[in-house]
Amino acid sequence: MYTPNEKRYDDMKYLRCGRSGILLPRISLGLWHNFGSVDRFGNMLDMIHTAFDAGITHFDLANNYGPVYGSAEENFGRIMEQDMRPFRDEMIISTKAGYDMWPGPYGDHGSRKYLIASLDQSLKRMKLDYVDIFYHHRPDPDTPLEETMEALSDIVRSGKALYAGISNYDSEQTRKAAEILRANHTPLLINQVSYSMMNRWTEEDGLQDTCAEVGAGVICFSPLAQGVLTDRYLNGIPEDSRAKKNHFLQESSITPELIDKVRQLNTLASDRGQTLAEMALAWVLRRDKVTSVLIGASRPEQITDNVKLLDNMEFSDDELTLIDDILKG
Ligand SMILES: NC(=O)c1ccc[n+]([C@@H]2O[C@H](COP(=O)([O-])OP(=O)(O)OC[C@H]3O[C@@H](n4cnc5c(N)ncnc54)[C@H](OP(=O)(O)O)[C@@H]3O)[C@@H](O)[C@H]2O)c1
Repeated sequence: MYTPNEKRYDDMKYLRCGRSGILLPRISLGLWHNFGSVDRFGNMLDMIHTAFDAGITHFDLANNYGPVYGSAEENFGRIMEQDMRPFRDEMIISTKAGYDMWPGPYGDHGSRKYLIASLDQSLKRMKLDYVDIFYHHRPDPDTPLEETMEALSDIVRSGKALYAGISNYDSEQTRKAAEILRANHTPLLINQVSYSMMNRWTEEDGLQDTCAEVGAGVICFSPLAQGVLTDRYLNGIPEDSRAKKNHFLQESSITPELIDKVRQLNTLASDRGQTLAEMALAWVLRRDKVTSVLIGASRPEQITDNVKLLDNMEFSDDELTLIDDILKG
Protein backbone atom coordinates (compact mmCIF):
# COMPACT_ATOMS: atom_id res chain seq x y z
CA MET A 1 0.00 0.00 0.00
CA TYR A 2 1.38 3.41 -1.02
CA THR A 3 1.81 6.01 1.72
CA PRO A 4 2.77 9.39 0.27
CA ASN A 5 5.61 11.46 1.63
CA GLU A 6 4.14 13.61 4.40
CA LYS A 7 6.47 16.47 3.44
CA ARG A 8 5.46 16.42 -0.22
CA TYR A 9 4.28 20.04 -0.25
CA ASP A 10 7.29 21.48 1.58
CA ASP A 11 9.71 22.05 -1.29
CA MET A 12 7.62 22.24 -4.46
CA LYS A 13 6.70 25.72 -5.66
CA TYR A 14 3.25 26.49 -7.07
CA LEU A 15 2.19 29.31 -9.35
CA ARG A 16 -1.27 30.60 -10.15
CA CYS A 17 -2.45 29.52 -13.59
CA GLY A 18 -3.48 32.71 -15.38
CA ARG A 19 -6.33 34.50 -13.65
CA SER A 20 -7.80 31.28 -12.26
CA GLY A 21 -8.06 29.82 -8.80
CA ILE A 22 -5.73 26.96 -9.71
CA LEU A 23 -2.14 26.75 -8.52
CA LEU A 24 0.03 24.50 -10.67
CA PRO A 25 3.31 22.96 -9.54
CA ARG A 26 6.27 24.51 -11.37
CA ILE A 27 7.00 20.97 -12.62
CA SER A 28 4.31 18.70 -14.00
CA LEU A 29 4.62 15.14 -15.29
CA GLY A 30 3.52 14.09 -18.77
CA LEU A 31 2.65 10.52 -19.74
CA TRP A 32 3.26 10.75 -23.50
CA HIS A 33 6.05 8.14 -23.43
CA ASN A 34 6.89 5.26 -21.06
CA PHE A 35 3.30 4.68 -19.92
CA GLY A 36 2.08 2.63 -22.87
CA SER A 37 1.14 -1.01 -23.24
CA VAL A 38 4.75 -1.72 -24.31
CA ASP A 39 6.13 -0.36 -21.02
CA ARG A 40 6.62 -1.87 -17.57
CA PHE A 41 3.75 -1.18 -15.17
CA GLY A 42 5.93 -1.25 -12.02
CA ASN A 43 8.11 1.53 -13.43
CA MET A 44 5.06 3.69 -14.23
CA LEU A 45 3.74 3.22 -10.72
CA ASP A 46 7.12 4.20 -9.24
CA MET A 47 7.25 7.32 -11.41
CA ILE A 48 3.78 8.49 -10.37
CA HIS A 49 4.63 7.88 -6.69
CA THR A 50 8.01 9.64 -7.00
CA ALA A 51 6.36 12.62 -8.66
CA PHE A 52 3.53 12.86 -6.13
CA ASP A 53 5.97 12.47 -3.24
CA ALA A 54 7.89 15.47 -4.61
CA GLY A 55 4.80 17.69 -4.69
CA ILE A 56 4.04 17.22 -8.39
CA THR A 57 0.26 17.39 -8.39
CA HIS A 58 -0.31 17.72 -12.14
CA PHE A 59 -0.37 14.72 -14.50
CA ASP A 60 -0.87 15.29 -18.21
CA LEU A 61 -2.31 12.76 -20.65
CA ALA A 62 -3.95 12.65 -24.08
CA ASN A 63 -6.33 10.20 -25.70
CA ASN A 64 -3.68 8.72 -27.98
CA TYR A 65 -0.68 8.46 -25.62
CA GLY A 66 0.78 4.96 -25.66
CA PRO A 67 1.57 3.07 -27.75
CA VAL A 68 -1.01 1.66 -28.32
CA TYR A 69 -3.38 4.61 -28.47
CA GLY A 70 -5.32 4.89 -25.21
CA SER A 71 -2.95 2.68 -23.24
CA ALA A 72 -1.34 5.50 -21.19
CA GLU A 73 -4.82 6.46 -20.02
CA GLU A 74 -5.60 2.81 -19.28
CA ASN A 75 -2.42 2.40 -17.27
CA PHE A 76 -3.09 5.64 -15.43
CA GLY A 77 -6.59 4.34 -14.63
CA ARG A 78 -5.00 1.18 -13.23
CA ILE A 79 -2.73 3.32 -11.05
CA MET A 80 -5.73 5.35 -9.84
CA GLU A 81 -7.51 2.11 -8.92
CA GLN A 82 -4.46 0.58 -7.32
CA ASP A 83 -3.52 3.33 -4.88
CA MET A 84 -3.95 6.92 -6.06
CA ARG A 85 -7.75 7.19 -5.74
CA PRO A 86 -7.58 8.46 -2.13
CA PHE A 87 -5.53 11.42 -3.41
CA ARG A 88 -7.77 12.37 -6.36
CA ASP A 89 -8.63 15.74 -4.84
CA GLU A 90 -4.92 16.56 -4.54
CA MET A 91 -4.37 15.96 -8.26
CA ILE A 92 -4.85 17.97 -11.43
CA ILE A 93 -5.35 15.46 -14.24
CA SER A 94 -5.58 16.58 -17.85
CA THR A 95 -6.31 14.90 -21.14
CA LYS A 96 -6.72 16.05 -24.73
CA ALA A 97 -8.26 15.31 -28.10
CA GLY A 98 -7.22 16.79 -31.40
CA TYR A 99 -4.88 14.32 -33.09
CA ASP A 100 -5.55 10.99 -34.75
CA MET A 101 -7.33 8.60 -32.36
CA TRP A 102 -9.78 6.23 -34.06
CA PRO A 103 -10.55 5.31 -37.69
CA GLY A 104 -13.00 7.21 -39.84
CA PRO A 105 -13.90 10.88 -40.09
CA TYR A 106 -14.87 11.43 -36.42
CA GLY A 107 -11.69 10.38 -34.60
CA ASP A 108 -9.43 13.37 -35.36
CA HIS A 109 -9.26 17.18 -35.55
CA GLY A 110 -11.72 19.56 -33.83
CA SER A 111 -15.38 18.64 -34.28
CA ARG A 112 -17.83 18.71 -31.39
CA LYS A 113 -18.55 15.04 -32.18
CA TYR A 114 -14.89 14.05 -31.78
CA LEU A 115 -14.18 16.04 -28.61
CA ILE A 116 -17.23 14.90 -26.68
CA ALA A 117 -16.93 11.24 -27.70
CA SER A 118 -13.20 11.24 -27.02
CA LEU A 119 -13.51 12.63 -23.51
CA ASP A 120 -16.16 10.00 -22.69
CA GLN A 121 -13.72 7.30 -23.81
CA SER A 122 -10.83 8.88 -21.86
CA LEU A 123 -12.85 9.00 -18.63
CA LYS A 124 -13.67 5.29 -18.98
CA ARG A 125 -10.05 4.37 -19.61
CA MET A 126 -8.80 6.46 -16.67
CA LYS A 127 -11.66 5.31 -14.43
CA LEU A 128 -12.45 8.93 -13.57
CA ASP A 129 -15.71 10.85 -13.25
CA TYR A 130 -14.08 14.03 -14.51
CA VAL A 131 -10.74 15.47 -15.60
CA ASP A 132 -9.47 18.76 -14.26
CA ILE A 133 -8.40 20.13 -17.65
CA PHE A 134 -9.64 19.08 -21.08
CA TYR A 135 -7.64 20.39 -24.01
CA HIS A 136 -8.18 20.79 -27.68
CA HIS A 137 -4.81 19.32 -28.68
CA ARG A 138 -4.09 21.37 -31.83
CA PRO A 139 -5.78 24.00 -33.95
CA ASP A 140 -8.01 22.64 -36.71
CA PRO A 141 -8.26 25.04 -39.66
CA ASP A 142 -11.19 23.12 -41.16
CA THR A 143 -13.57 23.24 -38.18
CA PRO A 144 -15.07 26.59 -37.15
CA LEU A 145 -13.33 27.64 -33.97
CA GLU A 146 -16.77 28.45 -32.53
CA GLU A 147 -17.73 24.76 -32.80
CA THR A 148 -14.59 23.53 -31.04
CA MET A 149 -14.74 26.14 -28.28
CA GLU A 150 -18.47 25.63 -27.72
CA ALA A 151 -17.77 21.92 -27.31
CA LEU A 152 -15.13 22.76 -24.66
CA SER A 153 -17.59 25.07 -22.88
CA ASP A 154 -20.33 22.45 -22.93
CA ILE A 155 -17.91 19.83 -21.62
CA VAL A 156 -17.03 22.11 -18.70
CA ARG A 157 -20.70 22.82 -18.05
CA SER A 158 -21.43 19.08 -18.10
CA GLY A 159 -18.93 18.61 -15.25
CA LYS A 160 -16.81 16.13 -17.22
CA ALA A 161 -13.96 18.65 -17.12
CA LEU A 162 -13.44 21.46 -14.66
CA TYR A 163 -11.41 23.74 -16.95
CA ALA A 164 -10.83 24.27 -20.67
CA GLY A 165 -7.41 24.30 -22.30
CA ILE A 166 -5.92 24.64 -25.76
CA SER A 167 -2.64 23.30 -27.03
CA ASN A 168 -0.32 24.37 -29.85
CA TYR A 169 -2.42 27.51 -30.52
CA ASP A 170 -0.39 30.59 -31.52
CA SER A 171 -1.11 34.13 -30.29
CA GLU A 172 -3.76 34.96 -32.85
CA GLN A 173 -5.56 31.63 -32.39
CA THR A 174 -5.31 31.98 -28.61
CA ARG A 175 -6.92 35.43 -28.64
CA LYS A 176 -9.82 34.19 -30.76
CA ALA A 177 -10.30 31.02 -28.70
CA ALA A 178 -10.26 32.97 -25.43
CA GLU A 179 -12.80 35.44 -26.78
CA ILE A 180 -15.25 32.73 -27.87
CA LEU A 181 -14.82 30.89 -24.59
CA ARG A 182 -15.37 34.10 -22.64
CA ALA A 183 -18.58 34.75 -24.56
CA ASN A 184 -19.65 31.26 -23.50
CA HIS A 185 -18.79 32.08 -19.85
CA THR A 186 -15.90 29.60 -19.82
CA PRO A 187 -12.51 31.12 -19.05
CA LEU A 188 -9.54 29.76 -20.95
CA LEU A 189 -7.38 28.20 -18.23
CA ILE A 190 -4.19 27.39 -20.11
CA ASN A 191 -2.32 26.96 -23.37
CA GLN A 192 0.08 23.99 -23.67
CA VAL A 193 2.94 24.69 -26.07
CA SER A 194 6.47 23.53 -26.85
CA TYR A 195 9.31 25.64 -25.45
CA SER A 196 12.94 25.01 -24.63
CA MET A 197 16.33 26.63 -25.06
CA MET A 198 16.34 25.02 -28.50
CA ASN A 199 12.74 25.83 -29.47
CA ARG A 200 11.73 29.46 -28.97
CA TRP A 201 8.78 29.96 -31.32
CA THR A 202 6.56 31.15 -28.47
CA GLU A 203 8.97 34.03 -27.76
CA GLU A 204 8.97 35.09 -31.41
CA ASP A 205 5.17 34.83 -31.48
CA GLY A 206 4.72 36.75 -28.20
CA LEU A 207 2.54 33.90 -26.99
CA GLN A 208 3.50 34.10 -23.34
CA ASP A 209 2.41 37.76 -23.21
CA THR A 210 -0.76 36.97 -25.13
CA CYS A 211 -1.69 34.31 -22.60
CA ALA A 212 -1.08 36.76 -19.76
CA GLU A 213 -3.30 39.34 -21.55
CA VAL A 214 -6.20 36.91 -21.91
CA GLY A 215 -5.74 35.63 -18.36
CA ALA A 216 -4.52 32.15 -19.28
CA GLY A 217 -1.55 30.23 -17.92
CA VAL A 218 1.19 28.63 -20.04
CA ILE A 219 2.53 25.10 -19.62
CA CYS A 220 5.52 24.13 -21.73
CA PHE A 221 6.14 20.66 -23.14
CA SER A 222 9.39 19.05 -24.26
CA PRO A 223 11.45 21.49 -22.16
CA LEU A 224 14.38 19.05 -22.39
CA ALA A 225 13.99 18.73 -26.18
CA GLN A 226 12.90 15.13 -25.50
CA GLY A 227 16.12 14.37 -23.63
CA VAL A 228 18.65 16.15 -25.88
CA LEU A 229 19.11 18.91 -23.26
CA THR A 230 20.39 16.43 -20.67
CA ASP A 231 23.52 14.31 -20.32
CA ARG A 232 21.67 11.40 -22.00
CA TYR A 233 23.45 11.59 -25.37
CA LEU A 234 26.88 12.90 -24.37
CA ASN A 235 28.51 9.51 -24.81
CA GLY A 236 26.55 8.06 -27.71
CA ILE A 237 22.95 6.96 -28.07
CA PRO A 238 21.93 4.57 -25.29
CA GLU A 239 19.84 1.53 -26.27
CA ASP A 240 17.11 2.46 -23.79
CA SER A 241 16.85 6.11 -24.86
CA ARG A 242 13.97 7.78 -26.67
CA ALA A 243 16.16 8.34 -29.74
CA LYS A 244 16.63 4.56 -30.07
CA LYS A 245 13.11 3.56 -29.15
CA ASN A 246 10.84 6.15 -30.69
CA HIS A 247 10.43 7.86 -34.03
CA PHE A 248 9.43 11.20 -32.39
CA LEU A 249 13.12 11.82 -31.68
CA GLN A 250 15.19 10.85 -34.72
CA GLU A 251 18.60 9.33 -34.01
CA SER A 252 19.88 11.19 -37.08
CA SER A 253 19.00 14.56 -35.47
CA ILE A 254 21.56 13.97 -32.72
CA THR A 255 24.58 15.13 -34.71
CA PRO A 256 28.16 15.64 -33.44
CA GLU A 257 27.64 19.44 -33.89
CA LEU A 258 24.59 19.32 -31.65
CA ILE A 259 26.34 17.21 -29.02
CA ASP A 260 29.24 19.67 -29.04
CA LYS A 261 26.79 22.44 -28.04
CA VAL A 262 25.12 20.21 -25.45
CA ARG A 263 28.55 19.47 -23.97
CA GLN A 264 29.24 23.21 -23.59
CA LEU A 265 25.84 23.68 -21.95
CA ASN A 266 26.62 20.75 -19.67
CA THR A 267 29.83 22.48 -18.56
CA LEU A 268 27.91 25.68 -17.79
CA ALA A 269 25.34 23.69 -15.81
CA SER A 270 28.01 22.01 -13.75
CA ASP A 271 29.63 25.44 -13.09
CA ARG A 272 26.21 26.46 -11.72
CA GLY A 273 26.17 23.33 -9.54
CA GLN A 274 23.30 21.75 -11.52
CA THR A 275 22.78 18.96 -13.99
CA LEU A 276 22.06 20.06 -17.54
CA ALA A 277 18.46 18.81 -17.18
CA GLU A 278 17.97 21.01 -14.11
CA MET A 279 19.47 24.04 -15.88
CA ALA A 280 17.38 23.53 -19.03
CA LEU A 281 14.18 23.37 -16.95
CA ALA A 282 15.19 26.38 -14.83
CA TRP A 283 15.78 28.32 -18.07
CA VAL A 284 12.18 27.66 -19.19
CA LEU A 285 10.87 28.82 -15.81
CA ARG A 286 13.31 31.73 -15.43
CA ARG A 287 10.51 34.23 -15.87
CA ASP A 288 7.15 33.71 -14.28
CA LYS A 289 5.46 33.91 -17.69
CA VAL A 290 5.56 30.10 -17.81
CA THR A 291 3.33 28.57 -15.17
CA SER A 292 4.75 25.04 -15.28
CA VAL A 293 7.26 22.90 -17.18
CA LEU A 294 5.85 19.61 -18.38
CA ILE A 295 8.54 16.97 -18.21
CA GLY A 296 8.64 13.40 -19.42
CA ALA A 297 10.64 10.66 -17.71
CA SER A 298 11.63 7.07 -18.31
CA ARG A 299 12.60 6.35 -14.69
CA PRO A 300 11.92 7.77 -11.23
CA GLU A 301 15.50 9.05 -10.79
CA GLN A 302 15.01 11.52 -13.64
CA ILE A 303 12.06 13.04 -11.80
CA THR A 304 14.08 13.27 -8.59
CA ASP A 305 16.86 15.01 -10.50
CA ASN A 306 14.54 17.39 -12.31
CA VAL A 307 12.76 18.74 -9.22
CA LYS A 308 16.14 19.91 -7.92
CA LEU A 309 15.97 22.70 -10.50
CA LEU A 310 13.96 24.59 -7.89
CA ASP A 311 17.14 25.05 -5.84
CA ASN A 312 18.69 27.33 -8.48
CA MET A 313 16.38 29.15 -10.90
CA GLU A 314 18.30 32.41 -11.21
CA PHE A 315 20.43 33.26 -14.27
CA SER A 316 22.84 36.15 -14.61
CA ASP A 317 22.72 38.16 -17.85
CA ASP A 318 26.14 36.73 -18.72
CA GLU A 319 24.87 33.17 -18.33
CA LEU A 320 21.84 33.88 -20.52
CA THR A 321 24.08 35.41 -23.20
CA LEU A 322 26.45 32.46 -23.01
CA ILE A 323 23.56 30.01 -23.50
CA ASP A 324 22.40 31.97 -26.57
CA ASP A 325 25.93 32.10 -27.98
CA ILE A 326 26.49 28.37 -27.48
CA LEU A 327 23.24 27.52 -29.25
CA LYS A 328 23.83 29.98 -32.11
CA GLY A 329 27.48 29.00 -32.53
N1 LIG B 1 0.49 19.17 -26.36
C1 LIG B 1 1.32 18.56 -27.16
O1 LIG B 1 1.20 18.61 -28.40
C2 LIG B 1 2.46 17.78 -26.55
C3 LIG B 1 3.50 17.30 -27.36
C4 LIG B 1 4.55 16.62 -26.74
C5 LIG B 1 4.55 16.43 -25.36
N2 LIG B 1 3.49 16.88 -24.62
C6 LIG B 1 3.43 16.68 -23.14
O2 LIG B 1 4.66 17.08 -22.56
C7 LIG B 1 5.21 15.99 -21.81
C8 LIG B 1 6.70 16.08 -21.81
O3 LIG B 1 7.21 15.98 -23.13
P1 LIG B 1 8.58 15.26 -23.38
O4 LIG B 1 8.52 13.86 -22.84
O5 LIG B 1 8.96 15.44 -24.80
O6 LIG B 1 9.53 16.15 -22.41
P2 LIG B 1 11.06 16.28 -22.13
O7 LIG B 1 11.11 16.51 -20.67
O8 LIG B 1 11.67 17.29 -23.05
O9 LIG B 1 11.73 14.86 -22.49
C9 LIG B 1 11.60 13.77 -21.64
C10 LIG B 1 12.75 12.79 -21.84
O10 LIG B 1 13.97 13.40 -21.43
C11 LIG B 1 14.79 12.46 -20.76
N3 LIG B 1 15.02 12.94 -19.40
C12 LIG B 1 14.13 13.50 -18.54
N4 LIG B 1 14.73 13.86 -17.41
C13 LIG B 1 16.03 13.52 -17.53
C14 LIG B 1 17.16 13.63 -16.68
N5 LIG B 1 17.07 14.21 -15.49
N6 LIG B 1 18.34 13.17 -17.14
C15 LIG B 1 18.45 12.61 -18.34
N7 LIG B 1 17.42 12.47 -19.21
C16 LIG B 1 16.23 12.93 -18.79
C17 LIG B 1 14.06 11.13 -20.82
O11 LIG B 1 14.49 10.48 -21.99
P3 LIG B 1 14.71 8.88 -22.08
O12 LIG B 1 13.33 8.36 -22.31
O13 LIG B 1 15.59 8.73 -23.26
O14 LIG B 1 15.30 8.44 -20.79
C18 LIG B 1 12.62 11.56 -20.95
O15 LIG B 1 11.81 10.57 -21.54
C19 LIG B 1 4.61 14.75 -22.48
O16 LIG B 1 4.63 13.62 -21.63
C20 LIG B 1 3.21 15.23 -22.76
O17 LIG B 1 2.43 15.17 -21.58
C21 LIG B 1 2.47 17.57 -25.19
